[in-house]
Amino acid sequence: MPNVSIGVIGAGLIGRKHVKKIIEHPDFDLAGIADIERDAVSAQYPDIPVFKDYKSLLGEARPQAVIIASPNQSHAAIGIECARRGIDMLIEKPVTDTLESAAALLLEVRASNVRTLVGHHRRHHDQVRTLRRLLGEGLIGNLVGVSAIWATYKPADYFRVAPWRTQPGGGPILINLIHEIDFLRYTAGEILGVSAISSSRQRQFSVEDTVGALLEFDAGCIGSFFASDSAVSPWTTEQGVGESVEFPFSGESSYRFVGSRGSLEFPNLVHWSQAHGGQNWNEPIRSRRLLASFIDPYRAQLDHFRDVVRGTAESLLTVEDGARTLIATLAVTEAAISGNRIDLRDRYEALAAGEFPPSQPSSSRVSI
Ligand SMILES: NC(=O)c1ccc[n+]([C@@H]2O[C@H](COP(=O)([O-])OP(=O)(O)OC[C@H]3O[C@@H](n4cnc5c(N)ncnc54)[C@H](O)[C@@H]3O)[C@@H](O)[C@H]2O)c1
Repeated sequence: MPNVSIGVIGAGLIGRKHVKKIIEHPDFDLAGIADIERDAVSAQYPDIPVFKDYKSLLGEARPQAVIIASPNQSHAAIGIECARRGIDMLIEKPVTDTLESAAALLLEVRASNVRTLVGHHRRHHDQVRTLRRLLGEGLIGNLVGVSAIWATYKPADYFRVAPWRTQPGGGPILINLIHEIDFLRYTAGEILGVSAISSSRQRQFSVEDTVGALLEFDAGCIGSFFASDSAVSPWTTEQGVGESVEFPFSGESSYRFVGSRGSLEFPNLVHWSQAHGGQNWNEPIRSRRLLASFIDPYRAQLDHFRDVVRGTAESLLTVEDGARTLIATLAVTEAAISGNRIDLRDRYEALAAGEFPPSQPSSSRVSI
């Protein structure tokens, strides 16, 4: 098969990672890069055509597909332009910054029939796929609940270089928890209801530094999540799987999936059960560690995108699916601000019907 010609829009932190993976990949040809900081990017990639305006990249380099790795607020407009030109796209997470823009993008994607993938790269880990398969096969019986922590301490510099991170939308819910919400939707099932409490006691910013959320899943499973960017712990998915150098490896499990016949820790895939499928609190419980390989999730994501573009695989995470993750994540902020339990069913239905889901409070807009 011929190589896939691809462009990258936005060559910042994650865009440069994508460029590196594309250059290393035998099945892609990098057609060009677009970045508003054209000169700086061009200096880094002297052999690659770099455009200041992404429309010039699309019109002149004519890639078959693009990766959109620009700031969140630009995802919808760029995605709509690509859809109108029939260009397939991998859009970095979050799919867009608001539900309205997600719905507008979805309409164009449907009308043009372009293929889409959203960059929640966690779905491509072998540990994640293995967990999903084991839960689906009923290894731990009916999934009764899941309990999880994402807690780490962001240094002062993180906020000094980008003061927007101290404002609504810049906190751990929309920056970090969104990945965990997507992971939970993929492994435990659709999230139908959300309640939450948040706090800014540690940092005293106008955005939360800590949040506790209760999640209701479609099969009746109950989830509890504690997330904080102001607490020192070994319990984040990043530390547990060792997926990036920025998060030193801890090898600790931050998730416990609890079922009617046993439990599973993630990412270590430690399986807890009683002899002969027993269900008796007086019986001893034993553990065994199941195996999954470590693969580079960004490379695996690119392999999958190649197959999606060639039409040999269904997208693991379409724009509509990414918008559902956004709906559930924004609901955590909304629930914490309002003190209400938020039912998500009407919102999913509105999105699927091509309508704008009820808008979230302005304070919950997403930023990077
Ligand atoms: N999946 C992941 O692991 C992951 C990690 C980090 C960031 N992200 C997501 O990737 C996106 C980019 O984040 P980042 O941390 O790389 O940001 P960044 O600020 O480091 O980079 C953004 C780049 O886009 C360029 N840019 C801005 N507006 C543009 C436009 N209209 N056209 C072309 N280029 C434009 C900027 O000059 C900059 O080089 C965000 O949506 C973020 O949420 C995903």
